[in-house]
Amino acid sequence: MESLTEVLKRTVETGIWTQAVLSQLRKGSGATADKVKIKPVNLKTGLHYQFAHYTGTKVLHENVEPRQAAARTEELLLTHYKQALLQTSEADYHVLLNKKGEVTVLKKKATKTNVDLAHNRKKRYLLEEGEPVPFLVELGVMNAQGKVLAAKYDKFKQINRFLEMIDDVVPHLPQNRTIRIVDFGCGKSYLTFALYHYLNEIRGLDLQVVGLDLKEDVIRHCNDLAERLRYERLRFLVGDINRYDETDEVDMVVTLHACDTATDAALEKAVRWGASVILSVPCCQHELFGQIRNEALAPLLKHGILKERFASLVTDAARAQLLEQLGYKTQVLEFIDMEHTPKNLLIRAVKEQGGAEKAKAQSGDGRADAEAAAYERFAEILGISPFLQRALADKLDRLR
Ligand SMILES: C[S@@+](CC[C@H](N)C(=O)[O-])C[C@H]1O[C@@H](n2cnc3c(N)ncnc32)[C@H](O)[C@@H]1O
Repeated sequence: MESLTEVLKRTVETGIWTQAVLSQLRKGSGATADKVKIKPVNLKTGLHYQFAHYTGTKVLHENVEPRQAAARTEELLLTHYKQALLQTSEADYHVLLNKKGEVTVLKKKATKTNVDLAHNRKKRYLLEEGEPVPFLVELGVMNAQGKVLAAKYDKFKQINRFLEMIDDVVPHLPQNRTIRIVDFGCGKSYLTFALYHYLNEIRGLDLQVVGLDLKEDVIRHCNDLAERLRYERLRFLVGDINRYDETDEVDMVVTLHACDTATDAALEKAVRWGASVILSVPCCQHELFGQIRNEALAPLLKHGILKERFASLVTDAARAQLLEQLGYKTQVLEFIDMEHTPKNLLIRAVKEQGGAEKAKAQSGDGRADAEAAAYERFAEILGISPFLQRALADKLDRLR
């Protein structure tokens, strides 16, 4: 019969491990987690083993590289727990430890065979169904068993899509100090809680997150929830984006579905702070509807609904182009499927090293001037002068 060390090492190396649970905490062992669930997960950085440490309703995640997973499992089991169930596609292994620390490994028929390497390569959500995530349970997206409620499935998908976008920008955030994040117009804050949970609890990053909204009752509710979840570095404030002056040091600005020019107010703050990352999902882009003029576009502009959609696209194109000019590498991405909401664009802007001035100084080919000229032509032809252009006129003028 193989020893515990051999079983763990072989099942990890051959990729047949589907799940393991360490349980029956030994009294006085020093650990606080009642149990640890371990499963393979496909992260951006490749296959890892995720250790979920459960203490009451709180879960702490630790992602471990495959070459360390067997040793980490053995160390945790031998120091803190009395038993383990390791499920693989070939067999189940029941591991029992007696008081003297002697180990017995019993091999039984496989009961969970559905995770193999092929399955692992399939697209997986960063937060998965089947495993209760405390903030999703509190927000009524999942039940206590981790099942996503049918009516909340779109929300669950949206949260996961948002986390993928967040995951992509982590390398652009400070690595050796607290990351400061502001979410403008956070509302009920599903996505703010998701962001905090993912970056702090799963990725283990040092964060300080502030959510701001005009609505007092909503903010009170969010602060109560943050306290219940013990999200100590997440707090919510009542306030108007335009007048927010609590800090001038922010690394990432998030603004999701902040209505009309509230988005521009958030973008202006982000640019003035020199935030490294901006994630913005605009909505209700009404401002330019009343400004756009162009005779050649009369067949389009005479239909209210077409004009409205066109004005929204023009607004976001102008925002993206202005951010480019101001030294941000800017992308416009699909946020969630069109079928769920028409408000499906996300502007993702990452500050280039040294900002706009350096980019302009270095572009001997006149690229920066060409970008500025392209914006001016665009605005002139459509007769528009958007909020963001007016708000950042001083900065744009300095780049001429
Ligand atoms: C449609 S909700 C979006 C909530 C959340 N960000 C989301 O995506 O689920 C828009 C929120 O922006 C807030 N808001 C609008 N204008 C604002 C302003 N000037 N300052 C602060 N919050 C604002 C509203 O109160 C509302 O809660």
